[in-house]
Amino acid sequence: MKGKFITFEGPEGGGKSTQIKELAAFLEARGIPVLQAREPGGTRLGERVRGLLQDDTAGEPPSPRAEVLLFLASRAQLVANVIVPALEKGVWVLCDRFDDSTFAYQGYGRGFDLDALRCLDAFATGGLVPDLTLLLDLPPDVGFARLATRQAGEGSAPDRFEREARAFHERLRAGFLELAGREPGRIAVIDAGQPRETVAGTVREMVAARFGIGREATR
Ligand code: TMP
Repeated sequence: MKGKFITFEGPEGGGKSTQIKELAAFLEARGIPVLQAREPGGTRLGERVRGLLQDDTAGEPPSPRAEVLLFLASRAQLVANVIVPALEKGVWVLCDRFDDSTFAYQGYGRGFDLDALRCLDAFATGGLVPDLTLLLDLPPDVGFARLATRQAGEGSAPDRFEREARAFHERLRAGFLELAGREPGRIAVIDAGQPRETVAGTVREMVAARFGIGREATR
């Protein structure tokens, strides 16, 4: 593929969407075409699936297995209709969550077998793997404190995942770190507890080093 595929992962409140915007601005300023996407969602079908997954709009929560398949349906649509066509055109795709979220939330969080999830995921993605994954790591307490501040400002309420017990969030944080330990060449861990600008600088340096963007350009 001509473009690069970069995913942002991590627990709630880690600042993924802010960091994606910052990286997009950095790359665009260097003439690199960028597309921002998010999961679940990013297509019309995917956004409807997002509503079903987060807001109980179906009138009943999805069963744990249905939940896996809904995430994968959203992903399959996003990969086929948005991500692959963009990469083929040379556009860099920055995605807010991708399959490591399935392994962390549905694998480590809900307890599904990781190998089974990997098989299902490969079917959904057609084997597409991110060129680089930035894991914005944060202890659940810190993430939830940030989230509470944001939601109080917006007047919004926690979604189905945010309402999960603390133990669930501890498991998925540990899961993300274990995934990073297994694939150190693809997944880079960043301490998201640092100030926003420090995290943004680390993200720029990692991306520049990985894809050969001049070092002076990262300042
Ligand atoms: P967010 O985009 O606001 O972070 O919301 C997405 C929620 O869905 C978040 O709580 C993580 C969860 N999720 C999964 O459980 N599995 C997945 O595969 C993905 C992409 C997200």
